[in-house]
Amino acid sequence: MYAIPLGDEGAELRPLETWHAEEFLANLDRGREFIGQYIPFGSRATDVDSARSTLQRYTDMRAADTGSYHGIWLDGRLVGGVLTLNFDAAAGNAEVGCWLEPAATGRGLITRAMRVLLDWVVEERGIHRVEWVAASGNVASLKVAERLGFRKDGVRREAHEWRGKRHDLEIWSLLAPEWRSARDAHKDR
Ligand SMILES: CC(C)(COP(=O)(O)OP(=O)(O)OC[C@H]1O[C@@H](n2cnc3c(N)ncnc32)[C@H](O)[C@@H]1OP(=O)(O)O)[C@@H](O)C(=O)NCCC(=O)NCCS
Repeated sequence: MYAIPLGDEGAELRPLETWHAEEFLANLDRGREFIGQYIPFGSRATDVDSARSTLQRYTDMRAADTGSYHGIWLDGRLVGGVLTLNFDAAAGNAEVGCWLEPAATGRGLITRAMRVLLDWVVEERGIHRVEWVAASGNVASLKVAERLGFRKDGVRREAHEWRGKRHDLEIWSLLAPEWRSARDAHKDR
């Protein structure tokens, strides 16, 4: 079992597996309203069995090499995670996503976890273009993308219907050479 430390505050990144269903459900229950403001993430996981099914979908994606799921543990508690989806190694394209329960926000956990994930995606897996998709109103998410070096490609106007409203979806992307520059600039600081 591997765990990657995220800074020196007792936070670590680990693969999120089906046997974490209870912890995953507890994490979602602590953050359901906040996490679901713009995305349906975790909305189908309402008890341990459905939480396990959500995790199983990602386990299947990992096995098929079309996605991955990593959790962030802070002082031993699962507080969020980072993921890949629409992962297409042959085409060199992938998308990333993330979530945190509210108590774990505002301390850079996602930014740090994403740096680990992006380095793996670009350097180990050879992905050339990484996409970040978020509703225009999801300012926290878009700020993280920008902090990581993503650039805005454009807007899919009113593309995302969620909770009775149609949201504009912003498409941001990070190309492999841009990631290397952003990573190296961050290391120099
Ligand atoms: C998107 C989401 C994960 C971002 O969470 P976050 O806490 O803002 O992101 P980070 O963990 O990277 O923290 C960044 C914040 O911590 C601060 N921070 C503190 N130390 C930091 C560090 N060492 N490095 C980077 N940021 C740091 C930053 O200043 C920033 O605060 P700011 O937004 O006020 O400028 C969170 O809002 C969320 O879960 N939303 C609901 C689910 C969702 O919408 N997911 C995305 C779908 S596209």
